[in-house]
Amino acid sequence: MPHFAPPVNLFAPLYVFEPHLGPAEPGAGPAYAVGMLDERRILVTGASSGIGRAIAAAYQAAGAEVWAVARHPSGLGERVHDVVADVTDPAGRQRLADAVTELDVVVHAAAILGPPNTPLSAYPEADWRAVIETNITAVQLIHQLLEPHYAPLPTIIGLSSGVGRKGRAGWGAYAVSKFALEGWMEVLAGEVPEGRVYSVNPGATRTRMRAAAAPDEDPATLPSPEAITPLFLHLAHRDVDLPAGRYDARDWIDRDPWDGLA
Ligand SMILES: NC(=O)c1ccc[n+]([C@@H]2O[C@H](COP(=O)([O-])OP(=O)(O)OC[C@H]3O[C@@H](n4cnc5c(N)ncnc54)[C@H](OP(=O)(O)O)[C@@H]3O)[C@@H](O)[C@H]2O)c1
Repeated sequence: MPHFAPPVNLFAPLYVFEPHLGPAEPGAGPAYAVGMLDERRILVTGASSGIGRAIAAAYQAAGAEVWAVARHPSGLGERVHDVVADVTDPAGRQRLADAVTELDVVVHAAAILGPPNTPLSAYPEADWRAVIETNITAVQLIHQLLEPHYAPLPTIIGLSSGVGRKGRAGWGAYAVSKFALEGWMEVLAGEVPEGRVYSVNPGATRTRMRAAAAPDEDPATLPSPEAITPLFLHLAHRDVDLPAGRYDARDWIDRDPWDGLA
């Protein structure tokens, strides 16, 4: 049973204005309780843009020590360790392992879309291989390298997708890679006895990947990456007590990320 202590609203007045997060307006993102993630050591892949960058910024604002991994630096400031690395490159993956000490949380957000709206019959082989390599093979190989660095009770979060739970025409290798990620996380949940293994579907979110996937969509109709961070904050807390499984970040928009946590 999830443990939900009576809510202790430590965070309400403590807005931290991070320039990269924009103003703390309704729906723009959560208020951060400084210190709620103190002493948590967290690695986020795909942290140079979009959702991964917003998650890394939110973790840092809540007190965590953060390693931000991508081929480009996150630009999140001196308190975030940028690890510039290509997750498909063995030397790049080794740089991650060399950069970290012990890790409490790993978030796998790095991914590529591949050619949008392309039927399987016409999907280019090179794109297929690149998407599978980035979105799932790299996740497995990073897990193997980082596992010796996991603290007791590690939390592993994978960024899934709606098309990784129900296939949709034209989503090609991207959808297949997210189905694979869901399966990988189910296997992992059985191997991590404590079971802090969470597959999170962010839902359509205002990022460059979404713009490439749905060019005719008005981005203003979508939540910002900052708005969907409350669930990721909650899952990174040391006392998180949600069972392993599938979650939707949209269910947590405008929720107190520290609900039930001291
Ligand atoms: N946005 C949505 O609507 C949506 C919906 C469902 C799921 N998702 C998932 O959410 C996650 C984040 O997506 P996003 O929309 O924020 O996309 P994004 O803005 O394109 O960010 C993707 C991130 O992955 C990194 N990346 C890509 N290839 C990499 C590589 N080979 N090595 C290291 N880093 C790499 C990119 O950094 P560099 O280019 O600097 O390497 C970037 O930081 C993805 O897993 C995506 O599948 C997004």
